[in-house]
Amino acid sequence: MGRGQELLAVLQWVFAPLLLLLAELSSGLQPTYQWRDAETNEKLTCQQCPPGTFVARHCTRDRQTECEPCPELHYTQYWNYLEKCRYCNVICEEKQVEVQQCNATHNRVCQCQEGYYSEMEFCIRHSECPPGSGVVKPGLVDICSSGAGLCGFN
Ligand SMILES: *[C@@H]1O[C@H](CO)[C@@H](O)[C@H](O)[C@H]1NC(C)=O
Repeated sequence: MGRGQELLAVLQWVFAPLLLLLAELSSGLQPTYQWRDAETNEKLTCQQCPPGTFVARHCTRDRQTECEPCPELHYTQYWNYLEKCRYCNVICEEKQVEVQQCNATHNRVCQCQEGYYSEMEFCIRHSECPPGSGVVKPGLVDICSSGAGLCGFN
């Protein structure tokens, strides 16, 4: 055995358990799912697909799961074994602004425009306090610092 080979043998001896451990750790991090192969009727443990992708082909006995990126306007937020990505189904209404765009990992997020208050998924115009009385507690009906206490709708 040459010097280099000797070194290699030692390195392997040292690192092999470490690599095994790493492999185990990473396979532990990568979620799996049970899948029955339609052809062989064999029960398999397939790897799931990461967020932003979906299962294009389930694993077989000799091939790992094949993941593909979500198409436009679709997303997967979590590790999954979906055969299709979810559609970004949140649509911003009138009086709402988009605060988070639809991308491969997140659905769209909308928020009421400034001056509007969210109540049961509707955006309702803030009531306004009369001039000279500040808003103490904003809400469907603001509580004002002076006057009648409650302000009506505007
Ligand atoms: C999608 O949007 C989220 C939230 O804005 C962001 O954290 C994430 O990095 C984005 N993902 C991609 C793939 O652009």
